[in-house]
Amino acid sequence: MKLLPKNTTELQKMRAAGKLAAQVLDAITPQVQAGISTLELNDAMEKMMRDAGAIPATVGYKGYPKASCISLNDVVCHGIPSSSEILKNGDILNIDVTVILGGFHGDTSRMFTVGTVNPQAQRLIEITYHAMMSGIATIKSGSKLDDIGNAIEATCAPHGYGIVREYCGHGLGKKFHEDPMVLHYANHQFPSVRLKKGLTFTVEPMVNIGTWRTQLMPDGWTVKTADGTLSAQFEHTLAVTEAGAEILTASPAGFTFPPYSPNPRTLES
Ligand code: MF3
Ligand code: CO
Ligand code: CO
Repeated sequence: MKLLPKNTTELQKMRAAGKLAAQVLDAITPQVQAGISTLELNDAMEKMMRDAGAIPATVGYKGYPKASCISLNDVVCHGIPSSSEILKNGDILNIDVTVILGGFHGDTSRMFTVGTVNPQAQRLIEITYHAMMSGIATIKSGSKLDDIGNAIEATCAPHGYGIVREYCGHGLGKKFHEDPMVLHYANHQFPSVRLKKGLTFTVEPMVNIGTWRTQLMPDGWTVKTADGTLSAQFEHTLAVTEAGAEILTASPAGFTFPPYSPNPRTLES
């Protein structure tokens, strides 16, 4: 693994890209409602990115056609937005956006809920969020890379959930995907890989109610759970500091996991 930390100038650009990606998810939130298609959500987010002077990194990436991935219910990741996919009450979905701003990538995803979702779905979402944050909490300069996956596994294990193994977190910067590869399940690397100040990468666990196994759909992109159970994912882009992880894609609106209150700032003040 080749681990090249970003310098101060590069980190500033990573902060700007991460913030924009988070703002796009904040801004789409009120539109995530029953009756809208995933393509309409995608197109609104693509406009936001381009209006902000950014490029959606996924368009044309290995042939991927859209500016976001929208993964509904038993879709694990890489769901392609479509005009025929209409949100309905009880759906859960992940929206994943990656922007390129000033030459650097910002990559983040969150879960959303439509109307009233069943308690098992809500629990899956909350545990997945906490699992991501427990992985992030291990990060600081000198920490072990494999502690991230070990913490995520420890958070999920009591619930019997399956943690997806085929898709991982990744370093990013000028490139969309680079070292390190970040495993989200229990693992032990020998010799251990130590994180360095200035490294930037994602933590993005995909967690299923049932098996960790997945199946790729004939479109070549959409990944579903092998057993048809629900899947959830959250993703942040992080920078390693002496003190811990700086979350570059933190929500300026204060959104963490759903349900998202219409105006959290007002509620807090
Ligand atoms: N944003 C995804 C990630 O977290 C990658 C999507 S690649 C695409 O790494 F081609 F499917 F869009
Ligand atoms: Co990612
Ligand atoms: Co992503």
